[in-house]
Amino acid sequence: MKQKNSFSGQIGFVFAAAGSAVGVGNLWRFPYLAAKDGGGLFLIIYLALVLTVGFVLLTTDIAIGRKTGKSAIYAYESMRKKWKFLGVITFLVPVLIMTYYAVIGGWILRYIVIYLTSSGKQAVADDCFTAFISSPSSVWYGLIFMLLTALIVYNGVEEGIERVSKFIMPVLLIMVIGIAIFSLTLKTTLDDGTVRTGLQGLKVYMKPDLTGITVGRFLQITLDAMSQLFFSLSVSMGIMITYGSYVKKDVDLNKAVSQIEIMDTGVAFLAGVMIIPAVFVFSGLDGMSAGPGLMFVSLPKVFYSMGTVGRVIGILFFVLAGFAALTSCISVLESITANCMELFHTERKKTTRVLSVIYLIATAVIALGYSIFYVEVALPNGSTGQLLDIMDYISNSFMMPFISLLSAILIGWIMKPSWIAKEMELNGEKFKRKKLYNVMMRYIMPVIMVILFLQSTGVLNL
Ligand code: PFF
Repeated sequence: MKQKNSFSGQIGFVFAAAGSAVGVGNLWRFPYLAAKDGGGLFLIIYLALVLTVGFVLLTTDIAIGRKTGKSAIYAYESMRKKWKFLGVITFLVPVLIMTYYAVIGGWILRYIVIYLTSSGKQAVADDCFTAFISSPSSVWYGLIFMLLTALIVYNGVEEGIERVSKFIMPVLLIMVIGIAIFSLTLKTTLDDGTVRTGLQGLKVYMKPDLTGITVGRFLQITLDAMSQLFFSLSVSMGIMITYGSYVKKDVDLNKAVSQIEIMDTGVAFLAGVMIIPAVFVFSGLDGMSAGPGLMFVSLPKVFYSMGTVGRVIGILFFVLAGFAALTSCISVLESITANCMELFHTERKKTTRVLSVIYLIATAVIALGYSIFYVEVALPNGSTGQLLDIMDYISNSFMMPFISLLSAILIGWIMKPSWIAKEMELNGEKFKRKKLYNVMMRYIMPVIMVILFLQSTGVLNL
């Protein structure tokens, strides 16, 4: 068997894992939820969850990976033979996500091209985005993004993933901070003479809004924050298990987990500082939508209202979004590749080549889900969607809470939390939040996961 790949050290690992965690979710979902769910109230709840639920999930995945040295399928098998099924289900999450993540990357690529080649005026038209995705030729952008991802994974853990992440993540951080500061300096005077400033927008974002708060609404906000947290930290889908398996034994996992949490949450928070004041100043908070609607419809309007500088901000914003999507997409493909290499005993380059062909086809099919293969399906959580939304629903809303529940039972009750604690204390470090970990893993996580699962399947309606 070939020597297993690894990250060169703590920094390489943290940047790669944070690269996976920081993705479009941070940019197009976190600010939307914050605006919708009471501003500062959402921020406080989210932060509390990051330090408890997020910490437990991230620690578990990374420690499982490093301890077993394997990707999901064999990692779970090596813990308990009968639990291999959980590895297989976990492996299926990235398998599904990969079918559509490059499609989203392709959309971002298209907008980079728009801003590089024109003033961005065309992006202001209401149907610009829908016209683009419903044209079959949009497929090309997704395919290019997919190829780029495959090329990086093809080059291996240290030479490909780590190298790219170590470049992208610092640049991305500087860009988010820069645009966030710019956003705070914005100012406009409305027709009726009212002045709106970026700082007022910041206040709207950060001030806890308790109007109309009831127990039901509080729970709803908590659940929103929880499902955002799962997606945002890339946990319970085997990705962090794979990345964990590449971490050398002398790395302090306690520190690494905290650093990943800080980067992911920091970028999500700053994305809010970047987006909410800008939207507030130029279109009022009615302009805050989620997902593609925010990124590809509302924001281009905001950029256009800024005048010439808006084009520069447009380019910067979409390049930043492209970076965020790329490091996430890499981690999804890497996790599939690593599982396949262990499963079929094949080497990296050959595995990546085969997977590239499969996923180029899948990317094309999902991208064509808005034109040639158009379907509209009602999902159990009450929304409707096309092929991309179906894949997203199955992998995120449906499978992730289910996997976390089973993993909490396996670690909390069968392997016991001390199994994880040993790995966290491998080099004589202290596993500082050990008690919290034990209680969360055994008692609280199972309950939370059942609630989340019932909510996403539409059984529980808050
Ligand atoms: N964590 C990424 C985000 O917040 O956008 C998204 C993501 C990456 C989800 C990788 C799933 C994944 F496998």
